[in-house]
Amino acid sequence: MNAPVAAPPASSRSTTKLAIVGAGAVGSTMAYAALMRGAARTVALLDINRAKVQAEVLDLRHGLEFMPPATVEGSDDVAVCAGADVVVFTAGAKQKPGQSRLDLAESTIGLVRTILPGLLDVAPDATYVMVTNPVDIVTYAALKVSGLPPHQLFGSGTVLDSSRLRHLVAEHCGVAVQNVHAYIAGEHGDSEIPLWSSASIGGVPLLEWQGRPGFGPLTASVREAIAHDVVRSAYTIIEGKGATNYAVGLAGSRIVEAILGDERRVLPVSTLLENFYGIDDVCLSVPALVDRRGCDGRIDVPLSNDEYDGLKRSATALKEAARGFGF
Ligand code: 2OP
Repeated sequence: MNAPVAAPPASSRSTTKLAIVGAGAVGSTMAYAALMRGAARTVALLDINRAKVQAEVLDLRHGLEFMPPATVEGSDDVAVCAGADVVVFTAGAKQKPGQSRLDLAESTIGLVRTILPGLLDVAPDATYVMVTNPVDIVTYAALKVSGLPPHQLFGSGTVLDSSRLRHLVAEHCGVAVQNVHAYIAGEHGDSEIPLWSSASIGGVPLLEWQGRPGFGPLTASVREAIAHDVVRSAYTIIEGKGATNYAVGLAGSRIVEAILGDERRVLPVSTLLENFYGIDDVCLSVPALVDRRGCDGRIDVPLSNDEYDGLKRSATALKEAARGFGF
């Protein structure tokens, strides 16, 4: 008797469609990452620059032979996003050397107001993932503009920053990055904070990590230097090459996979907090569950007093910035 044929993984269902708004460095790299990882069966790119989006689509299509099965579409017409399961919003101005993410708020909020209503017309049931900076403020603004429930629209938050943190901890400790469990919480930006008290390596609480031969312990000063490097990462890359794209592309694809694969993956996405340790009415990142519903609740991660104070400071900074833009 033949063995039963296993159902295909959710991410290879022929219905999965990922629409990416913005075919710049972040959007097109995210399309590439999503295709390479088989995140969706159809990837659609939308950009106002028709020549650019058509060129990106051609370049991606020419690599389809070497990727899991998929099709790629692209247009300057929002109709290309019709019926998308996930819409990732990457459109926006580039952060210039010396600028902070918050400096981009006004222009990005303008784009959200212009583009989001048309997207909602053609993809009303999609899960929306905001990536454009300042992502926490943009997510808050997009929730207000769209009227979508917070589980259906959230931001990429500190998924990327957490991966930067894990990389630096893994390098310092001489372990695989996949065995480091550690989150950056708060703003995706200057006021973000590492959650050291709940971090671990292979089940060992990170604050108790003693080091191993050839690798030093994670002293308070090492942790401080790592946290500083995480915050400075984007600035360093932008100074060197004008934009960040590879890691953010992968982080975005990871979020999309968690949604389309119904993974219930714990990811620090930026969501609307209501009564989270007394923090209200602001979008910022704390570890949350991501699945087919979108953001399906938060993890009650324990916080040290310092972490709690840091999160509060981040929330206050973000609220003040959002109010400054009329939200
Ligand atoms: C990053 O952190 C600039 O937000 C972008 O890479």
